[in-house]
Amino acid sequence: MKAFIFDLDGVITDSAEYHYLAWKALGEDLGIPFDREFNETLKGVSRTESLERILRHGGRENDFSLEEKERLATKKNEHYVSLISKITSDDILPGVEAFLSELKEAGYKIGMASASKNAHMVTRQLGLLHAFDHIVDAATVVDSKPHPEVFLKAAEALAVDPKDCVGVEDAVAGVEAIHAAGMFAVGIGDPLVLNEADIVFTDTTGLTLDNVLTRN
Ligand code: BG6
Ligand code: MG
Repeated sequence: MKAFIFDLDGVITDSAEYHYLAWKALGEDLGIPFDREFNETLKGVSRTESLERILRHGGRENDFSLEEKERLATKKNEHYVSLISKITSDDILPGVEAFLSELKEAGYKIGMASASKNAHMVTRQLGLLHAFDHIVDAATVVDSKPHPEVFLKAAEALAVDPKDCVGVEDAVAGVEAIHAAGMFAVGIGDPLVLNEADIVFTDTTGLTLDNVLTRN
C-alpha cells in the first residue's frame, strides 16, 4: 500500500450528524419526517440525490419543479453551513490526527475523496488542510459515490495506482465506490451495515497502521 484516501463526513469529523440535522429539519418542513435509519441511506450521497431520496421517501417526488428543488437544496445547505460554522480542531474524531501523523511519518500519500462541496471549508475549519496531499471534492466530480470517480481522481492526483490505495469510508455508497475503484476498503461504523468493507472498525480509534496492515 502506498496511499490512504479518506472520506470526510463521518470519518474525519462527525459532520454526518449536521447533514442529518439539516436534512431532518427540511424534511419536517415538507411533512416528510425521517429517522436515523433512513438517514443511513443518505450518507455519502450527493446533495441533489439526497433531496431526491427524501422526496421519494415521503411520496413527494413529483411535487416540485427543478427550480423549487434547487431552492430546497440551497436552504438545507445554508442550514448545514450555519451548523458547521462553529466547528474547530476539537471536532476531529478521536484517533484521526494520530493516524494521519503516523501515515505521514511512514511515507504514505494522504488524500481525501469527499462527496461534499463543502469539503475544503470543513477541512480548513478543522485545521487539517496541511495534512492532505490532495483533496478531491464534489465540485470537480461528475458521478457521485457509489461511482468510483472521486476515489480514482484522488489516486491519480497522488500518482498512486488504485490497487495500492486504501479507502476509508463510513457510508455504504462510499465502500462501494472504493471497491469499484479497485482499492482496499476500510469501513468506520456498524459492521452489519458496512458488511462489504474489507475491514470495519466501529469507530476511528481503531485506525492504526498496524490494525489496517495486519488485516490486509
Ligand atoms: C457527503 C455526505 O460527504 O456529502 C452526505 O456524506 C452529503 O451526507 C454529501 O449529502 C454532499 O454534501 P454537501 O456539503 O455538498 O451538501
Ligand atoms: Mg461519509
